[in-house]
Amino acid sequence: MRAPFRLLCLGAVLVGCSGITVVAPRPELRRVAPDDVPLPPFEPVAEGAESMNSEYCLESCTAEKARFAEFAKQIQELQKLQSGNRGQSVQRGFHGKAHGCLYGTVEPLPDRDPRSKFGVFAEGKGPYKAWIRFSNGVGWTQPDDELDARGMAVKLLGVDGARPLNDEMQTQDFLMTNSPTPVGRNAEEFMKFAFANERGRLSGYWFAATHIRTGAPALMRTDPIDSAANAQYWAGGAFHLGAHQAVKYTAKPCEGSVPRPKGPRTDPDYLRKDLNAAAKAGLCFTFYAQFQADPKTTPIEHASREWPEDVAPPVPIATIRMPAQDLADPARDAFCEKLSYSPWHGIYAHQPMGHINRARRYVYEASRQGRAGGFEPHGYEGFDAPPQTPTK
Ligand code: HEM
Repeated sequence: MRAPFRLLCLGAVLVGCSGITVVAPRPELRRVAPDDVPLPPFEPVAEGAESMNSEYCLESCTAEKARFAEFAKQIQELQKLQSGNRGQSVQRGFHGKAHGCLYGTVEPLPDRDPRSKFGVFAEGKGPYKAWIRFSNGVGWTQPDDELDARGMAVKLLGVDGARPLNDEMQTQDFLMTNSPTPVGRNAEEFMKFAFANERGRLSGYWFAATHIRTGAPALMRTDPIDSAANAQYWAGGAFHLGAHQAVKYTAKPCEGSVPRPKGPRTDPDYLRKDLNAAAKAGLCFTFYAQFQADPKTTPIEHASREWPEDVAPPVPIATIRMPAQDLADPARDAFCEKLSYSPWHGIYAHQPMGHINRARRYVYEASRQGRAGGFEPHGYEGFDAPPQTPTK
């Protein structure tokens, strides 16, 4: 059924593909069925050309892939530079310092929007066990009151389905930072910034000054935060939700969550201490999808163009629950360090989109190898003991 569906729809705009209304041929328009494997990105298209997902390569798909191979090498160079310049061990290329890893669940909402019911959010799917890692943005360890992005990475476990990578077979990762847009309209700019930032604060500022529209908005959001548990996080790039739709994700503390008290920022690890205190009571986030409205106001390839909420309102689709737990355990920290997150860990229904995301397929794996890390859990891995109650 799928091939005829595509053939029928490829050359024409059809209303609901019902065969009733046929208008002018539009060769750029590609429609896919929800359960298809997402189509690869286009070769570059004419400015203004529309498509169902508007995903097209930078320069050419061959040239782009060659650049990604270079980025993979550059990430490992960056890892060495970042550790060597500070006398620290080699860490993740970005998001080196963890505040903690929490176990929890991801539960699709019972009354979620029907448009969201694909992949891990399909009817009857979930709840899933999950591991959630909170982090700072740079690939070295620095005090938490420094300018930096903050990350929240969510790994769902026990996820079945065909997937583009085979380095893991049962997880679905969602990676977010506390800015709606990443630094850079594409991975070329992102990598340029990464090396500029490593050269020093002035060089980072120069990058922001020379990338006012594509770099500065995310860099303006790097002020220190009071608590990782209070923040809102965004996925930045776009993703399939089913092969036929593009979405961006965001997570916010659940309605009714008690905001963390504002504490002093004198302790270099105050975010870890705060997260540990918050974890003792448990944490809850609501996970939202913004559905692409059209290729112009909600573009795929220009990652630094924020999808406005008035045209793509965030729709709640799941709850991320982290029950009360104690993070102060060196074994948990060692486990947290080894975990390997990637937006490409997952099934086709959630395949990443856009240049910035396509590059991530290669650089996360390079970074994982560069730090000799990488571990895919199958459960709570022995950390699921009920909280200890003190004996009198
Ligand atoms: C689109 C927006 C992006 C978001 C929301 C994002 C978010 C994150 C998060 C949350 C982590 C930490 C994962 C963990 O806890 O282990 C991470 C790690 C990382 N990110 Fe990104 N990132 C983005 C773009 C990029 C780009 C464009 C690159 C490079 C081209 C990149 C390279 C990396 C690398 C190398 C790691 C470390 C991987 C590892 O060693 O496990 N990221 N990212």
